Amino acid sequence: MTFPADRPRRLRRTPALRRLVAETRLHPADFILPVFVREGLDEPMPISSMPGVVQHTEQSLLEAAEEAADLGLGGIMLFGIPAVRDAEGSASLDPQGILNRSIAAVKQQVGDRLPVMSDLCLDEFTDHGHCGVLTAEGAVDNDATLEIYACMGVAQAEAGADVVAPSGMMDGQVAVIRQALDDAGHQDAAILAYSAKYASAYYGPFREAVDSQLQGDRRSYQMDAANRSEGLREADLDLAEGADMLMVKPATAYLDVLSDVAEASDVPVSAYQVSGEYAMIEAAAANGWVDRRAVVLEALTSIRRAGATNVLTYHAAEAARWLREG
Ligand code: PBG
Repeated sequence: MTFPADRPRRLRRTPALRRLVAETRLHPADFILPVFVREGLDEPMPISSMPGVVQHTEQSLLEAAEEAADLGLGGIMLFGIPAVRDAEGSASLDPQGILNRSIAAVKQQVGDRLPVMSDLCLDEFTDHGHCGVLTAEGAVDNDATLEIYACMGVAQAEAGADVVAPSGMMDGQVAVIRQALDDAGHQDAAILAYSAKYASAYYGPFREAVDSQLQGDRRSYQMDAANRSEGLREADLDLAEGADMLMVKPATAYLDVLSDVAEASDVPVSAYQVSGEYAMIEAAAANGWVDRRAVVLEALTSIRRAGATNVLTYHAAEAARWLREG
């Protein structure tokens, strides 16, 4: 009988030993909470495909932001749902529009205790639901959209956003937004670029969350799930255009891309665990098929292990509370 010399199990024997050698840890500051605020709501409105997530009223949004600040989360990412939409998404530029006024209100509430981030995209504001404006033929017009994104970036920074997050996947979006921010005196407003954002069926529940009007799909601007090296190319472009942080989205099904981007770039890299990832965990847990808390923490750990500096997750507040409890 010969005994094995190498015994990795030695370091797995007790919880304290496992804690000692853990390569990846979770901390509340690793989590960014995405929130939806809907114009004209009297009560928070549950999102049926995302149990536990609501469309906020302007008041309940402030409570969520306060809680996020108390928990020491990494940030809060705002999505606005306007009462009225049009072809150009004009409510996105109005300082009194739902998103801009909510940025201002949240900023007023949390000050510098919690970074306030805003989704910079037209899809919540257009009546056709696309992330940009359309040509006469109905295609998404890249360069006409850039002009609006530039103004949106300035409007959001003016409202008080610490970080603007362009998510529309238009070519050149980071460069025009950076230029516009600088020209308007917002040199300190940072850009978190949704760099490798894939056209994904995992965004399904988000469509309900923002009452999306989209017919068709976003495959002419978001990336194809088949492509890995293109994720790096998009990340390189965004860095060259002045992005302060990069993002890979979705997270769990794209950990290879996340790993590539994290390895190759010297800026913080976020990963967005999207609505469908959330919904799948919740549905399985509600059926008693998986241990909810264990799966949530395992998923978040895996995303961090793959290289994410931080994770946008609808579980942010709850996971932070669990970590606090220990
Ligand atoms: C676009 C945007 C989307 C999401 C975040 N920003 C939707 C899309 O690209 O179709 C999806 C987030 C999620 O599914 O949780 N503004």
